[in-house]
Amino acid sequence: MSIRELVLKNRSYRRFYEEYRLDRDVPLELVDLARLSSSGANLQSLKYLLSTEPEQNARIFDTLGWAGYLKEWDGPGEGERPSGYIVVLFDQNIAKTPFWDHGIAAQSILLGAAERGLGGCMFGNIRKDDLRASLGIEDHLEILLVIALGKPKEEVRLVPLGPDGDVKYYRDADGIHYVPKRALNDIIHEPHHPKEA
Ligand SMILES: Cc1cc2nc3c(=O)[nH]c(=O)nc-3n(C[C@H](O)[C@H](O)[C@H](O)COP(=O)(O)O)c2cc1C
Repeated sequence: MSIRELVLKNRSYRRFYEEYRLDRDVPLELVDLARLSSSGANLQSLKYLLSTEPEQNARIFDTLGWAGYLKEWDGPGEGERPSGYIVVLFDQNIAKTPFWDHGIAAQSILLGAAERGLGGCMFGNIRKDDLRASLGIEDHLEILLVIALGKPKEEVRLVPLGPDGDVKYYRDADGIHYVPKRALNDIIHEPHHPKEA
């Protein structure tokens, strides 16, 4: 698969075949991709908590905010929840800031998942205090992101932004999830040169 094909395949998926068991080796291999990715000042301050067991998965699930734009949907029901999670943590004993490492790491992880026919979703909307207490995460480890993983059970299609410029994703009656993307031309900034006198 080309990088473009992989990037296109790598959508945010929020409904899964929950019965699919994720072998712990899979998130481990995905974190290895994050380990090999770029890191600000090469400080490598990120740590990863891997969850593939139903009991721990349920604890993580309870702390996540799903698809804020889909007001009528509270997240996947039983049977359609992720098979595992990677919690991305910042070790404050190593650095003062994670820079942008967690975004880079998360993308490497999800591209690796897409390559394996899996999929997932990044979560910034996390009840972090509850997650910390529930999993016993130590104080020096700041919770940055949660990445859900599993075998996707939904179709996600990219569409151009409509004339109203609305970026909100939506679903049709068949449950197909549509994600508006801005056109390439609209994100290229052309500097404005002041006219010569
Ligand atoms: C940093 C970051 C945080 C996100 N947090 C959430 C979240 O808390 N809940 C959620 O359902 N989706 C979350 N998403 C997924 C976005 O909604 C999704 O990327 C966007 O709708 C575009 O869809 P796509 O990933 O398929 O291109 C997050 C994405 C990113 C990059």
